[in-house]
Amino acid sequence: MVKEIVLIGGDGLVGHNFKSSHGGAYEIIDLSYPRVDIRDRSSLQQALLPYRNCLGIVNLAAATDTAKAFSDTAYQEYCWQVNAQGALNVAQVCQDLDTRLIHVSTDYVYPGTQSTPYLETDPLDPIEPYGASKAAGEVGALEFGAVVATLAFPYGPALHPTRPDSVAKIITQLKKGNRISAFSDQYVCPTFLPDFTSGLVALLENRDLVGKFHIVGPPQTPYSMRCHLADVLDLSTINIIPTSVTEYNRGAMLRGDRTFHPNLTLSTQKARSVKCEVRSFENGVRQLNLAAY
Ligand SMILES: NC(=O)c1ccc[n+]([C@@H]2O[C@H](COP(=O)([O-])OP(=O)(O)OC[C@H]3O[C@@H](n4cnc5c(N)ncnc54)[C@H](OP(=O)(O)O)[C@@H]3O)[C@@H](O)[C@H]2O)c1
Repeated sequence: MVKEIVLIGGDGLVGHNFKSSHGGAYEIIDLSYPRVDIRDRSSLQQALLPYRNCLGIVNLAAATDTAKAFSDTAYQEYCWQVNAQGALNVAQVCQDLDTRLIHVSTDYVYPGTQSTPYLETDPLDPIEPYGASKAAGEVGALEFGAVVATLAFPYGPALHPTRPDSVAKIITQLKKGNRISAFSDQYVCPTFLPDFTSGLVALLENRDLVGKFHIVGPPQTPYSMRCHLADVLDLSTINIIPTSVTEYNRGAMLRGDRTFHPNLTLSTQKARSVKCEVRSFENGVRQLNLAAY
């Protein structure tokens, strides 16, 4: 019998890639918004009850516009309702139903100021509203027994019709041919989505695994990612200008603007020890059909 996996928020970028990679091996039940609104706990309970014996539930539902969360107070409140309270609702309902839950979180829960890779045990200390709402959701989900999987800078190969991934955003920039400023001293962990979603499936299948897992790729700078994609696409790198996140943040703080995390390198040792491994950016890009971008 084919095992069932329930996705909440499966209409977004990660859900789209999850269904594309695992739709053949599993029956994917897609409880998408607005059919299921995680802010409404009793309707959530009703929607999940028929699937209480499934292999597990993956919570992908989130308010994800990080820039809007910084500048728009109404959206900030919405982020809190969905990413914090909504995540808690999902975790409580899953605990009540005794159904395994994987909650997806983000690298933005960390401040990005330390020089060594963040461990799953490091304290959360978000620097902006989106990260704060996700941190509250992550803490609540863990308290109710969920497993947390951390994702960062996701990309391809299944292109979403309205949600561009990290590579699609860069390719759009490169193709415009304008001057592009890119931090060459900031580190982030671009994540090939089939590796991440395979990690989610491994966490669902292996019920002994508990706690939090960073399932992200090896670090890159935004500058190196742009230069690599330009090379692969045979585009000039002359318009890609290396800039400094440290200098940018100094000016942004004086202006009261949004600042960026200097170093979001995450340790992946724990995930790799259970065979959840994400390939390098160069190897991931090799798997993409760049002609489709
Ligand atoms: N994309 C990234 O760069 C990134 C990086 C790190 C971690 N993550 C995490 O990965 C997870 C999946 O992200 P994603 O990129 O797939 O995001 P996405 O494309 O924005 O998809 C999120 C989904 O959640 C739905 N949703 C919003 N409010 C909801 C509610 N109240 N109840 C139920 N569903 C609701 C959205 O529906 P609508 O489209 O109708 O609003 C959308 O289908 C999230 O937890 C996110 O925080 C994402």
